[in-house]
Amino acid sequence: MRLRDRHPTSPPTGDMAVPEIFLDTASLDECVELSKWGIADGVTTNQKIFLSEGGVDFKKRVIDICRVIDGPVSVETTTNTEAELLAEARQYASWHKRVVVKVAMTADGRGLRVVHQLAKEGIRTNMTLMMTYNQLVLAAKAGATYVSLFYNRSKEAGEDPIKIIGDYVATAKESKLKARLIVGSIRTPEDVASAFAAGAHVVTIPTKILRQMPFNKRTEETREEFDKAWQEFLAIHKGADPAKTAPQVKRGARR
Ligand code: E4P
Repeated sequence: MRLRDRHPTSPPTGDMAVPEIFLDTASLDECVELSKWGIADGVTTNQKIFLSEGGVDFKKRVIDICRVIDGPVSVETTTNTEAELLAEARQYASWHKRVVVKVAMTADGRGLRVVHQLAKEGIRTNMTLMMTYNQLVLAAKAGATYVSLFYNRSKEAGEDPIKIIGDYVATAKESKLKARLIVGSIRTPEDVASAFAAGAHVVTIPTKILRQMPFNKRTEETREEFDKAWQEFLAIHKGADPAKTAPQVKRGARR
């Protein structure tokens, strides 16, 4: 059973929750390539990520990503007033059922009001740009589907993201807060490991970092050592396929 089969839309934050990986990208090529790894549970984008894609057709790209990735695709709102944000969010949500609308936390409560209203309308949201535990709890209480903690930006602001992740996950487990915690602003593979170890429900990872994750020097050395041993083993069999030289054993026969 695939992970997302158990967690179709808004997975629980309790014992059944499974850590998920989102791709922090708006590149369709990267989504196609990494979806084949079988590890991509969703995608997150933002204005900077889209800027790095150059002159792409925004709506078309969002829909194309939704068709490639079998999971939530976060699209960030860009407007300012409450009315504009709500209109923008409703528009994005109408593009594809996988779209989750990203709404920025704001100091004046505007972002929370928008998230709360969208929750009442059944539109899934990802409250973003958050650096503290308090912000996460407020967003979750307002009705956000996902709450995004910016790991490195939070650290740069003097916060302790590892403690924040642990505290939020504990609060979610012990309460009725449903919002899944996404940890973003990831800059190294070690950040990913630390975020998951602290209990993050989701880590959204730039593809540059994700591609570094399967590598380990000792793994590569061990694979080469085993390959060499196999070549020596084949040499003993003088080119014959060793899998075919074993005596045939009848099914059910006692050895
Ligand atoms: C998460 O949703 C954001 O898109 C992203 O992780 C922001 O990270 P940054 O600090 O690299 O801008």
